Amino acid sequence: MRALAGVSLAVEEGEFFGLLGPNGAGKTTLINVVAGLVRADAGSVRVMGADVVRDYRSARRRLGVVPQELVFDPFFTVRETLRIQSGYYGIRGNDAWIDEVMQHLDLTAKADVNMRALSGGMKRRVLVAQALVHKPPVIVLDEPTAGVDVELRQGLWQFITRLNRDGHTIVLTTHYLEEAELHCSRIAMLKAGRIVALDSTRNLLARFGGSRTTARVVARDGRQFTLELAGYGDLEPQLARLRAQGVEIADLELDRPDLEQVFLALTS
Ligand SMILES: Nc1ncnc2c1ncn2[C@@H]1O[C@H](COP(=O)(O)OP(=O)(O)OP(=O)(O)O)[C@@H](O)[C@H]1O
Ligand SMILES: [Mg+2]
Repeated sequence: MRALAGVSLAVEEGEFFGLLGPNGAGKTTLINVVAGLVRADAGSVRVMGADVVRDYRSARRRLGVVPQELVFDPFFTVRETLRIQSGYYGIRGNDAWIDEVMQHLDLTAKADVNMRALSGGMKRRVLVAQALVHKPPVIVLDEPTAGVDVELRQGLWQFITRLNRDGHTIVLTTHYLEEAELHCSRIAMLKAGRIVALDSTRNLLARFGGSRTTARVVARDGRQFTLELAGYGDLEPQLARLRAQGVEIADLELDRPDLEQVFLALTS
């Protein structure tokens, strides 16, 4: 069995790109090939022009990868871990940046705590920090929000979108499709090692999400109505029609096409 077959894609500089697919689709394998951790038996990958096999060191320097698996040396503190990681890139005196990264990831209070004493979510924050010590222009995040609480998730997205605004290219895998829908401008969907869709998030939603938006209305007397809307402009006239029939609207919920529908249409 091939973990990846015929995968060909180009992520633009400065893009916020999503790599989605069910468990076992090949997302992590693809990231490992990009990171030079797994050697593909055919094909090539370049990171900002640097071939990940022939020019491994340049490619690696341009890339920060947040791995899916939590692997650490349990004997070092958070700060030591980040200093050692900086050392791998030959960076000394990196403390100002390390402090900034720790602050954004709400890790400052844990700076001198040993890795083995951190909770799973805290360890994941350190993984993110580790990927960023050398300020890589390309940042790849393999399920960065798995097992992470709401507060960090929000902080993490704020930080990542800021990095993207500052010009960093972001490649993200996640099973939280609403995160991908919110942040990624373009998405590749993988299924069994192949790309089954590669398009802008907007086009994917328009093509596979179904064009219908539904409004569910609950009336004060408990009656429920479902309105099929051709577009948002259709909402007001339809509500007006209900009111004209004497319906008093107590609650209203809009159901619009989302990435989950696209995902299911393409991968199931
Ligand atoms: N070291 C390995 N040796 C053999 N097969 C592997 C290895 N690592 C992954 N695979 C297989 O390659 C395929 C793709 O796995 P991969 O981890 O890339 O999927 P994924 O899309 O990241 O899934 P998930 O969403 O669960 O993280 C799977 O069939 C998996 O079993
Ligand atoms: Mg994976």
